Amino acid sequence: MEERKKLLEIENLKKYFPVKAGFGKKQYVQAVESVSCHIYEGETLGLVGESGCGKTTLGRTIIRLHEPTSGKIVFDGTPIYDSEKKIAVPMLPYRRKMQIIFQDPSASLDPRMTVGEIVGEALDIHGLFQGKAERRERINELLDEVGLNTEHSNRFPHEFSGGQQQRIGIARALAVEPQFIVCDEPISALDVSIQSQVINMLEDLQAEKGLTYLFIAHDISVVRHISNRIGVMYLGSMVELAESYELCNHPIHPYTKTLLSAVPIPDPEKTRSRVRQPLEGEIPSPINPPSGCRFHTRCPYATERCKQEFPKLKEYGPGHYAACHLLEDGKL
Ligand SMILES: Nc1ncnc2c1ncn2[C@@H]1O[C@H](COP(=O)(O)OP(=O)(O)O)[C@@H](O)[C@H]1O
Ligand code: SF4
Ligand SMILES: [Mg+2]
Repeated sequence: MEERKKLLEIENLKKYFPVKAGFGKKQYVQAVESVSCHIYEGETLGLVGESGCGKTTLGRTIIRLHEPTSGKIVFDGTPIYDSEKKIAVPMLPYRRKMQIIFQDPSASLDPRMTVGEIVGEALDIHGLFQGKAERRERINELLDEVGLNTEHSNRFPHEFSGGQQQRIGIARALAVEPQFIVCDEPISALDVSIQSQVINMLEDLQAEKGLTYLFIAHDISVVRHISNRIGVMYLGSMVELAESYELCNHPIHPYTKTLLSAVPIPDPEKTRSRVRQPLEGEIPSPINPPSGCRFHTRCPYATERCKQEFPKLKEYGPGHYAACHLLEDGKL
């Protein structure tokens, strides 16, 4: 079988944010903890987990909108960041290749700029046109691609609905002809009635342009159909990663199992046979996260080792990865 090309390779990526504590002490929000994974060219990798588990931070750190605390990021064969080798390449050329669509379209669009200026700004930064006519033509083309009219070009963001604003955000991301786009919950702020339109459009654009997506959602039902693979995060760490169908139907990590048991599934047979296992306790703070496996304070199977050792993601079936000591010992 032909090896699939990895567009992104991420190793032990960490992102800690310094926060002020009392008495001049420094503390850190450990938002992303030692995440390793890769993203194949042309795929959609879904990323799920409860609010605050570090999805946005991971997405932004991968494209270095947040500078990593440590780890390694390889994009299209080139290390763009490597804390051990002290590599941190200038990002301007890579900004063209890696883009992001934000969760809240109204907050991510400058209210003082017209739609034409917003989309055109990306073209200007990267010098992607020759002359005014070509620039205007390109802006019109981009608006057309996302289902907006050329007349929309002179209007301001507040004149648009949420769905249209998200289309403007997508046009802005597409302007530089990227290879990779982080879609950070692009539909969660939109009316349910238009969510599927935006999803369908993102899928069509992907097929047309061969785009690679990291698609973030807090709800697995949003990504299960559009993702080739899905990664599950808990309190900053990646706990399971597998093909979408495999992950949804045969989860192996204790956290993923509880996460999925809370999702209603259409098949009544399956719903009946499934035991709902609500999670005990609150999600701990990422400022002082639990030692060892971050899930140990809520995991029904936790052992002494779980409290001490951070479990690494290991492969348990073809392309099916999980991070759990008990799985490793064959006890789950
Ligand atoms: N710029 C920041 N400074 C400090 N803490 C942050 C910052 N951004 C995110 N965090 C914290 O990092 C954790 C992960 O947040 P986030 O990545 O937004 O999670 P998610 O997208 O999964 O909801 C949260 O505890 C959040 O409060
Ligand atoms: S490593 Fe231990 S605490 Fe973590 S999920 Fe596995 S059994 Fe539970
Ligand atoms: Mg988020």
